[in-house]
Amino acid sequence: MSAPWQALQQLASEPFSLRQAFSDDPERAQRFRLNACDIELDYSKNLINSKRWQQLLALAEHSELRQLRSRMAAGEAINHTEQRSVGHMRLRLPDQALTTLEDQAIAEAIRLCRQQMTALVNQLNTQSYLGYKGKPITDLIWVGIGGSLLGPQMACEALSPFNQSPLKLHFAGNIDGAVVHDICKTLNPETCLVVVASKSFGTEETRQNALTLRQWFLDHGADQAAIARHFWATSSNIKAATEFGIVPEHILPMWDWVGGRYSIWSAIGLPLALQLGNAQFDQFLAGAHAMDQHFLQADLSNNMPVVLALLGIWYINGMGCQSQALLPYNHYLRLLPSYVQQLDMESNGKQVDHDGQPLACATAPVIWGDAGTNGQHAYHQLLHQSKLVIPADFILAAKPQHALSDHHLRLAAHCFAQTQALMQGKTIMEAKAECLAQGLSEEQASRLAPHKASPGNKPSNTMLLPELSPFYLGALLALYEHKVFCQGAIWQLNSFDQWGVELGKQLSGPIYQSLNGKSSNFDSSTSALMSSLQRHLTS
Ligand code: F6P
Repeated sequence: MSAPWQALQQLASEPFSLRQAFSDDPERAQRFRLNACDIELDYSKNLINSKRWQQLLALAEHSELRQLRSRMAAGEAINHTEQRSVGHMRLRLPDQALTTLEDQAIAEAIRLCRQQMTALVNQLNTQSYLGYKGKPITDLIWVGIGGSLLGPQMACEALSPFNQSPLKLHFAGNIDGAVVHDICKTLNPETCLVVVASKSFGTEETRQNALTLRQWFLDHGADQAAIARHFWATSSNIKAATEFGIVPEHILPMWDWVGGRYSIWSAIGLPLALQLGNAQFDQFLAGAHAMDQHFLQADLSNNMPVVLALLGIWYINGMGCQSQALLPYNHYLRLLPSYVQQLDMESNGKQVDHDGQPLACATAPVIWGDAGTNGQHAYHQLLHQSKLVIPADFILAAKPQHALSDHHLRLAAHCFAQTQALMQGKTIMEAKAECLAQGLSEEQASRLAPHKASPGNKPSNTMLLPELSPFYLGALLALYEHKVFCQGAIWQLNSFDQWGVELGKQLSGPIYQSLNGKSSNFDSSTSALMSSLQRHLTS
């Protein structure tokens, strides 16, 4: 392990008390605080002091972060294992700024895609798009998985208070037949539009769900012309989409320079554009663009994605933490942890560096979480008292999207109280004094105090958004994208490929064939499981 990483571990082994740090330094909250695009980040409740922070900043300064950031912005093929550039930032450029792109063919393709999306959104939202029996479309079924589904599903949920569309959205991802079964159960194909979202148009789950939906239409008397009318795609594989029966005018583009988990800004964002209307969707892009500008221009020490990245590196590589909680205190953001899970873990869960050499240290945390306050009655017990140190991001929108102001103040109070409790904990002496004040005997208080005490010194960030609007959601998502980018740059790995998911896909083919009657040899565990399944299915 090289010197900077050893230095991190050395520093992390020195004792540090957050409680003490706050009482020693009345300016601490101001010193470790940052604002970008009106999103406020309080990172003062982290296990850092000036010395540790300087070491982390030096790590960023001496890494290839700056060069890689410029290379990404210049459209270079930094996804070198797939020879692709990484261009999701282009997708949120305002129309007038597209002229600044070096490659004007790309600018034109983006313009055209925006026009196609706008036209379709207008047609659907005015209900002038009629189905094969002449009825207006009332439901949109979005078929996709991973990056082709998690983004629009999460963002539609997050911005549901801004819904302007008469259409109902349905998301079909999992190959589990229960999903499509449940969707079809309540709907009439005559009023449904299906969008097959798959960059490759080769993903098994998406193809299977799309085939089942096509059969559902055929079973309801639809002919090929009706299928052509009701099916759209967003894909870069035009050939496969047209072979499926989707007419070329119904194929919205995807490009190899946009990774699936970075594609919400492209035609993959269509459900969100539909829900918000075109003008508000532009606000969503504008928020992300504003965060891009911050990321590209701010000094490393005042750069919010860099700060979040360095804090993550401190916990993973300095302190050996393996997981990171993402705790939005906002019901509408409840799908955010699943979205960031793919973004972070599929990007940086890697074993080798750019040159294919084994990485010397761990990368990418396990991301998990749910909306507060639900988690407080479940896993927060472990956050507060277990020996594990799990850094947590708390996210709160200052203004709620409802008029129940007392609910909102209580929600905010819980959010801040959790970060405070994690930071300061409760000593055994304090716990004992509390027991005595409640009338327990000296002996009872001494016995109970260790159970009631909390160690504290547990790190957290708090992010305060002015409100959960299209603009701030866009900025927040871009913030996490860039955080992941910075970590990948410092770890010197390729954040934009995902070869690790391939093996499981390859192995499922022969197992499926075998379950369908073709014999093959598998390890004894897999064979026994397959036999048991067959026994259940035939009994
Ligand atoms: O299996 C991983 C993956 O390739 C993701 O990276 C991607 O977001 C998802 O599958 C869906 O891929 P596609 O859009 O090609 O169907």
